Amino acid sequence: MTDQSSELIHGGLVTKSLDQLRLEPNLRGYDELIKTFKWSDADSLVEWFPGGKINSAHNVVDRHALGERADKVALIYDDGEGSVQKLTFRQLYEETNRFANVLSKLGVKRQDRVFVFLQRSPELYVSFIGTIKACAIASPMFPAFGPDAIRDRLLDSSAVAVVTDAELVKRVYQVKNQLPELKHVIVVDEADAAAGEVSYRDEMKAASAEFQTVHMDPEEFQFMLYTSGTTGKPKGVVHAHKGIVQQTLTSRWVLDMHEEDVYWCTADLGWVTGVVYGCLGPWSCGVTQVGLGGRFNPEMWYRAIQDHGISIWYTAPTAVRMLMAKGDDIPRKYDLSRLRVLYSVGEPLNPEGVKWALDVFDSKPFHDTWWQTETGSILITNFPEMPIKPGSMGKPLPGVEAAIVDEDGKILPQGEEGNLAIRPGWPSMMRQIWKNEAKYNEYMRNGWYYTGDTAQIDSDGYFWYVGRADDVIKTSGERVGPFEVESALIEHEAIAEAGVIGKPDQLRGNIIKAFVVLTPGFSESDELKKEIQKFVKSKLAGHAYPREIDVVETLPKTRSGKIMRRLLRAQELGLPVGDTSTLEG
Ligand code: WT7
Repeated sequence: MTDQSSELIHGGLVTKSLDQLRLEPNLRGYDELIKTFKWSDADSLVEWFPGGKINSAHNVVDRHALGERADKVALIYDDGEGSVQKLTFRQLYEETNRFANVLSKLGVKRQDRVFVFLQRSPELYVSFIGTIKACAIASPMFPAFGPDAIRDRLLDSSAVAVVTDAELVKRVYQVKNQLPELKHVIVVDEADAAAGEVSYRDEMKAASAEFQTVHMDPEEFQFMLYTSGTTGKPKGVVHAHKGIVQQTLTSRWVLDMHEEDVYWCTADLGWVTGVVYGCLGPWSCGVTQVGLGGRFNPEMWYRAIQDHGISIWYTAPTAVRMLMAKGDDIPRKYDLSRLRVLYSVGEPLNPEGVKWALDVFDSKPFHDTWWQTETGSILITNFPEMPIKPGSMGKPLPGVEAAIVDEDGKILPQGEEGNLAIRPGWPSMMRQIWKNEAKYNEYMRNGWYYTGDTAQIDSDGYFWYVGRADDVIKTSGERVGPFEVESALIEHEAIAEAGVIGKPDQLRGNIIKAFVVLTPGFSESDELKKEIQKFVKSKLAGHAYPREIDVVETLPKTRSGKIMRRLLRAQELGLPVGDTSTLEG
């Protein structure tokens, strides 16, 4: 047990008065449900087509548009600059139907991959859901990605179409000649489509607002997202339509969505949080969602909560820390009294963040939730009805068996640190790693799904995050693979070798730190480091560049030539270096 977590485990408990929630929580009686709940109990939360078929988009949009919620506002899109656009479920239905017709006309076939590479906008939601309706696999891509990141994803998945805008399309063109299977570039806001492009505006105008949402086998795929591991390029994590069952259940049980709620998820649709809880799950519950454009801005965020009457808010620890750092005077200027419940995800939520919220949001704490791109929905969490132990991730969802296991799959005694593992079989679990069965199998060992995280369980059954078991870096809650950054670095002419680690950081959780060996003839300077940073940003992604660069003579390597990041990290942090028997002599 680490000193820090042992102190927290014995630390304070945040008990809640259920009056604070204003509404009866959807999940009551956790202790009973954890014993009795079966996944088949959740099947009735969604609508099925005859013969056991399903479509996630039908549940997210159509069933509301064709029922009592037709005129209810589904999306409040606030561009962050004073312009607000509202779409009812009926309008969202018609728009997504149009988009599905556009894809069908282009000849996009069942389970073809369609990428959505857009800034936050109504078109982002429309094209994402429309793709799923049309039986293709939708893959959203974070707008900060550069040409190399775009190429890797579209190439690996053999994407046939990308929906983008006039600005982002330039990055697509930088690599388009390396993408022979990319047939259609659909551009959203261009006045005139260039040769070979499809004009979103023109095609949408010409398309019918009627479409028969395709009946899918529950095991067919609805979306895929690329995410980083320790080694190699990002992997395509593929999710089935069946996942909507758990995405709906967790939106009800964890995020506590009720008919009258106005809900806001701050994550971009380029990440799994944005897809599952900034689009699919909440709409499947028929709830009004806010989408906010623009960059992080505390004034704008609090104003959005006030102006749209937001009652449920899902955000990330780095954002919480940034808000905390701006002080308590700003939130006090706004009426935040509609808030009922607050949640966070993506990295450890400091106990200070939980407690700060109690002060600033009228005794409402943040509820930490734990999950991953691969798990498809929340698996471990703090439920509204339960007391919170600040710093803990909470308890497993009923239906989910989570444990701390060793390398052989043996369950470790309470209090011991080890691999966080989940018993496979929950509905929203990834179905494959695109074209990479070996990678998928690496997660599945000894009858468990190994999450790549280490954790421990306390005597009350609360889970405590310890760290990553691998070299994956979580920076501002975003997942970055060291190999991708190293690959981008060594493409720079001044760099011969590179090793990349995550370095703990007060605000961002971790920052990316690079150790580089220079090519003969180059010498260290601040200008060179800045140029290298710019180079990585423009090739890979605006967020995945090394904030710190150290020039070194050599990098520690194994005899087979693999860079020992573990050793770089230990040296950087002054930790014991551990077993170095495989170190190059
Ligand atoms: C990794 C997954 C799915 C949500 C966004 C992240 C870390 C996630 C927590 C938490 C501590 C957390 C883990 C996990 N993580 N939630 N509540 N406390 N760490 O999805 O990009 O697939 O990253 O994020 O390390 O494995 P992701």
